[in-house]
Amino acid sequence: MSRYSIFVIAFFSFFSCNKCYQSFTPGQLWFDNNGVHINAHGGGILEFNGAYYWFGEHKIEGDAGNKAQIGVHCYSSTDLYNWKDEGIALSVVDDSTSLIVKGCIIERPKVIYNASTNKFVMWFHHELKGKGYSAAMTGLAIGDKVTGPYRYVKSVNPNAGVWPQNYNPQTADTSIVNPYKRKDPQWREYVEGGVYLRRDFNKGQMARDMTLFVDDDGTAYHIHSSENNQTLHVAQLTDDYLDFSGKYSRVLSGESNEAPAIFKRKGQYYMISSGCTGWSPNPARSAVAPHPLGPWKALGNPCKGSEEQVSTTFHSQSTYVLPVPGKEDAFIYMGDRWMPENAIDGSYVWLPIEFEDDQPVMNWQDEWSY
Ligand code: GAL
Repeated sequence: MSRYSIFVIAFFSFFSCNKCYQSFTPGQLWFDNNGVHINAHGGGILEFNGAYYWFGEHKIEGDAGNKAQIGVHCYSSTDLYNWKDEGIALSVVDDSTSLIVKGCIIERPKVIYNASTNKFVMWFHHELKGKGYSAAMTGLAIGDKVTGPYRYVKSVNPNAGVWPQNYNPQTADTSIVNPYKRKDPQWREYVEGGVYLRRDFNKGQMARDMTLFVDDDGTAYHIHSSENNQTLHVAQLTDDYLDFSGKYSRVLSGESNEAPAIFKRKGQYYMISSGCTGWSPNPARSAVAPHPLGPWKALGNPCKGSEEQVSTTFHSQSTYVLPVPGKEDAFIYMGDRWMPENAIDGSYVWLPIEFEDDQPVMNWQDEWSY
């Protein structure tokens, strides 16, 4: 057989087989069932009826790919290695009067299933077209079928007119109004004191990088970077997951956490997050709490390896943590290796999370399986 025919056979068997992958290869191109690099950035996974559904930002080529030109892409899998393209779950529209007009920003979409309403609920970080990142809203869309289509409902700055449960407005120093000067020695104190929280009290709080977490009792939480990205808010959703219940708390205030991902292990809640450096990677953080609403305690950088690996989270930024089904104590870190100059080229860094002395730990793997 000629070298050419071996290549042709290998090529076709690779793209026609049902089970091509038997392992993860972090940071490499990852082809779907059509042989196309998976396009679901800043994503999350819903397990439903024995299958996994991966929702993420659909990117296009070039810098324009950093804005929503298409919408939220969905893939399905039964083994987490091989993914089938299920198409666009939420589409942006051409109508300039709609808030999800093409060219707005839709990031970090997450979908959860509400058993009592039998609806699939998607929340995502939403920025309005032409307004940069200033709207800092969270958007809601609902689906009757897991793969969609999802109907856009609304975007909000959450918890307007409600104080977090761990903040006392009576004792707050209200003399500082807008200190946005990091060099100010008291800046951290002002943030912790709630200067941005109070500023946004009436109109609703900022919500940028976000994730969703559903607890074993079905209570869902929306976790987002708030207060000028300085403080995370963990906010309980209503029973139907379509609104904010008004119960929320501030987490790690003044510590600039982004890219939150939450999971539960042995009755404790863990969070992996990043610092705040845009598309460039930075050292990951971890934290633990006895309840999603806190109190959260910082545990430090979970990454082990060379200085470069540790300081860049293996060139990635967290987006989700997936418990490995049917396995005790096994979790998958899902991160994005962003390529903002050609957004569609962004790749995925999935790594095992292990535990040492009840602290999450991540090591680099060229290739691994669970
Ligand atoms: C990152 C954030 C991404 C995206 C980016 C834009 O910090 O995690 O989701 O918003 O900034 O610069």
